[in-house]
Formats: sequence, structure tokens, C-alpha cells
Amino acid sequence: MEEILTISNDRLTISITNYGGRIMQWLVDGVDIVLGFDTVDEYKTANEPYHGALIGRYANRIANAQYSSDGVSYPLDQNHGKHILHGGKEAFHNTVWKVISKSSIHVELQNISPDGDQGFPGELTTIARYEIVAEDTLALSMTATSTKPTVLSLTHHPYFNLSGLTSYDLSEHLFQIHSNQILSTDVEGIPSGDIVDVGFTGFDFTRWKSLAKAMKESHSQINLLGGIDHTYITENQTDHLQLQAEAKSSNSKVHMQVYSNQPGLQFYTANHFDGKEKGKTGRSHMFRGAFCFEPQHWPDSPNQGQFPSTILKSNEKYVFNMKYKFLQ
Ligand code: BGC
Repeated sequence: MEEILTISNDRLTISITNYGGRIMQWLVDGVDIVLGFDTVDEYKTANEPYHGALIGRYANRIANAQYSSDGVSYPLDQNHGKHILHGGKEAFHNTVWKVISKSSIHVELQNISPDGDQGFPGELTTIARYEIVAEDTLALSMTATSTKPTVLSLTHHPYFNLSGLTSYDLSEHLFQIHSNQILSTDVEGIPSGDIVDVGFTGFDFTRWKSLAKAMKESHSQINLLGGIDHTYITENQTDHLQLQAEAKSSNSKVHMQVYSNQPGLQFYTANHFDGKEKGKTGRSHMFRGAFCFEPQHWPDSPNQGQFPSTILKSNEKYVFNMKYKFLQ
């Protein structure tokens, strides 16, 4: 059964549906910082399928929707041309999760993905926990185990506009990303295997910068995917959280920091939004009207032996940890 659960404290009020584990509303000091819809049903027919959702079994792309392991080839659901994006069509974001525990500050959800779901081997049990852990911080953890060796890379997919529901673009935003390398991709967003320095190009967000400035700075990769849609490489740490990226709005004064234990962060600036979809308060979701900071493993790792491994063995526990902190 689909439900909407709300957790809150003095500064944060967050409404989560167990349909895809999506954050529908996210108030920070009264400002709603996420795109989305008023009702759960609207998420099912939206042009953009991933609003606010938990993403699995594999965030981002696996080339040609297949990989091989131990001599066995696994064909996966092709939902992005010939590739697979965000785990396939009927993946975590389109699943009704079981609510296994809740309070005024936390929600815990469980999803059992059957062996062969979207082509991925092993029955995978995932537990996701949203918890307000401090006055200014929302933590999200996901743990998972599989009955067979599989590949796994989870993430969280809110579309943020920190200026609130009356804003249609990112002009009041500044961004900072604590990384100086990206993965280069081909025109379909598949990593070429090369790691590229951000140098003094549009991809360099080591100091606070606006998206408008970045788009004026040259880099052949920026025009490839209609804007920024790239993986920034951060340190691979499994036991503690590192600050990966920050954004702030000069209008609302919301300043968000994203920490995680993942080796990459996808920075995506809603390059495929075209204004046709309308969300809360009837606001059109405009081209580059929102951004995503998605902590994750590197795309297509199952086919790129030199990338950090995303194999989860049957006796292992996968642990994803992140937090969103709001400075004042
Ligand atoms: C990807 C984009 C994709 C979008 C789908 C992002 O995480 O990086 O390439 O278009 O999700 O909504």
C-alpha cells in the first residue's frame, strides 16, 4: 500500500512516499527545495521518472545493458536506447517499498528485488533509512545483501532548486564540488574510460561558481550531453563520509552540503527538462531549472575493469551512507 510519511524537526520537514522511497516535499526553514508533485499518482505518469527516488540496482548507465562475470553474460533491461539507466524501467523508483519502521524523525523502508529483476542476478534485499540526525541534517543509509553475486550501485535522485517553488532556473545558485577530476563520456553518457582533469574549464567547481559561468567556459565534454551530466571522482572511502558537493541560493539563503561514502558524484543540471512537465503549484520543470547531486559508484563499472569494483558477493553487505546538511 502506498503511503506518505512525514518526518520533521524545528528546521526540516520532509515527506516521503514508500512508492520509490521518494522525497515529495522537503522544507528547509520553510522553503521547499525539491521538484515533484502533490500526489503519488502524478509520479507514475511524469515525463521524468526519477523525481526524489531511491535508485537501484545500478545508478546511471551500464553500456549495452549487459555485463559478464565469471564467464556468464547477464542481459539487462534496455530502457535508455540500447543501454540501461538507473536499474531499468521497473526498478527501485517504481517499486512500493515496505515500511518497516517509522517515528517522527525516521522512516525505514525495505525492498526485496527478485532474482533476475531487470536482468540482475540474485534476490536482493535492500533497507533504506531516512533519519533526521541533527537540527540541520538528514541522513540516508542503504544496506543490501544478495543471494548470488551481483553488481550494485545505489543513489538518491532528488531534483533540487534551493530557491523554492517560485524559481524556474538556477540563476540564484552557486555550486562547489570538492573534486578536480571527471569521467569523460561518449555522446550517450557512457564513460570512455578516461579520467580528465577539470583544469580551468567549465567543469571546475573547486571554487564557488554559477552554472551560467560554467557554461560559458569551454570544454568539449560540456556540449556533448547538453550541459553537465558527469561523474566527479572523489575518494573511495567506505567507512566515513566525505564532503563531496555544496550548493547555495542567494535568494532563499539555503546552503546545502552533500556528504557520502561513495567514490563518485554525478552532477546533473536537468538538461532534458523542456517545460512540458508541471509539478507542485503548477510550476513548469524548465531546462536547467534544477540540479542533482547523486553520490554513486562510477557508471558502467561492470564493463570497465579498471574502475572501482561494484561486485557484491553473496556473503557481503553493501553499505551506502550519505547526509544532507543545511548550514545557516
Ligand atoms: C542522469 C541523466 C539522466 C537523468 C534521468 C541522471 O542521473 O545522469 O543522464 O538523463 O538522470 O532523469
